Amino acid sequence: MPPTPPSPTCTASGGRWKTVGREILLHLIDFLVTSYGRDPVITRLLNNTRVHIMPSMNPDGFEATKVPDCYYTRGRYNRNGEDLNRNFPDAFENNSAKIQPETRAVMDWIKNETFVLSANLHGGALVASYTFDNGNPVTGSLKGYSRSPDDDVFIHLAKTYSSNHASMYKGMGCDNRQTFPEGITNGYSWYQLEGGMQDYNYVWGQCFEITLELSCCKYPPEDQLGKFWRDNKVALIEYIKQVHLGVKGQVTDKNGNPIPNAIVEAKGRPHVCPYRTNEQGEYFLLLLPGTYVINATVPGFKSMLKTVEIPDNTGNFSALKQDFSFPEVSAKISSRVASCPKTPLYQELTRASAAVKPTIHVLALMTIMLAIFK
Ligand SMILES: *[C@@H]1O[C@H](CO)[C@@H](O)[C@H](O)[C@H]1NC(C)=O
Ligand SMILES: *[C@@H]1O[C@H](CO)[C@@H](O)[C@H](O)[C@H]1NC(C)=O
Ligand SMILES: *[C@@H]1O[C@H](CO)[C@@H](O)[C@H](O)[C@H]1NC(C)=O
Ligand SMILES: *[C@@H]1O[C@H](CO)[C@@H](O)[C@H](O)[C@H]1NC(C)=O
Ligand SMILES: *[C@@H]1O[C@H](CO)[C@@H](O)[C@H](O)[C@H]1NC(C)=O
Repeated sequence: MPPTPPSPTCTASGGRWKTVGREILLHLIDFLVTSYGRDPVITRLLNNTRVHIMPSMNPDGFEATKVPDCYYTRGRYNRNGEDLNRNFPDAFENNSAKIQPETRAVMDWIKNETFVLSANLHGGALVASYTFDNGNPVTGSLKGYSRSPDDDVFIHLAKTYSSNHASMYKGMGCDNRQTFPEGITNGYSWYQLEGGMQDYNYVWGQCFEITLELSCCKYPPEDQLGKFWRDNKVALIEYIKQVHLGVKGQVTDKNGNPIPNAIVEAKGRPHVCPYRTNEQGEYFLLLLPGTYVINATVPGFKSMLKTVEIPDNTGNFSALKQDFSFPEVSAKISSRVASCPKTPLYQELTRASAAVKPTIHVLALMTIMLAIFK
């Protein structure tokens, strides 16, 4: 049974304060490295998963916070006065904010690694929020919900976190201001925002990201931190395991050489920037168990379609494997491929409607990223 939930209000008087996400990630690092070789589940998880942890994205903001209280927002901004979680390119609008060095570093990092799943940790609410944060009528904004083509996967990811958290799943909200059924929300439904990292990762990073709001109080007193870690520990581990959802594989040419930049998508859920293989010809698609047609395309050649039956493999720490071999292709051919444009993408789809099947957040003092790759 989960322990008693954290009190929805708190006072920060006297003593020292800490931001919850940063502390939790330090605990997580400690837990992972000390459990490896001792705990069989953590050992298998780490044997099969590359985990990147960034405890603080906004060190300026952290340092600027001198007299914190629960809803203090000064530490939200970097030295240049920019909010880093409004600073990314946006798929729906032209973001005029000047890209900050911290944001640039994170974008380079995302581009450099084949991230598959990530989470960013914030304070100020208690909820797991999922993409899209921004939207337009193509994604359902007129109905107050901005739906990605992978909405089912995102709901699963958010629920995995909230249901394994000590109290998030109860959806109590903070100070009874707002409640979240099952402790999750679509970002846009909560409140629309532009330039967030969550949408950026999904659209340009090929990385499914959710936003975790972990504490009503942004700066709880130090003596509550142990409890915040215990409340989140199982949820973090169960969330990391989800990187093994779905299907993965390699695309190769007639000689077995990897083909980078091949498009690999599940039929019926095309991404607005099609997901492509990395330098090693590898692809990863997070999908819930079920039957899917996977479409691998080397531009200029005939697509290969394979029907796959995806089991729930997260307990096995390995997604289903499905490779593609293109006998008529030489890997050199696809080396140069136009990258996805940076200007708003979804506006162009209003008529074509190719991106989606029709059918936040209170601020973070600092953005903290837990990024996971396999
Ligand atoms: C993890 O990997 C190490 C090194 O390859 C191996 O010795 C060990 O048996 C593996 N442990 C598990 C539980 O898979
Ligand atoms: C965004 O900027 C691009 C390039 O400058 C321009 O073509 C486009 O019309 C702009 N879109 C919006 C919605 O402002
Ligand atoms: C990108 O990867 C290369 C090679 O692993 C590494 O040297 C470089 O520091 C990385 N850059 C970033 C921004 O992560
Ligand atoms: C497979 O993907 C390619 C590239 O996105 C697309 O042009 C093609 O129509 C797709 N084929 C099918 C049968 O969906
Ligand atoms: C785990 O993988 C093994 C071998 O790859 C397979 O036999 C087994 O059915 C899998 N278990 C689950 C729960 O998927």
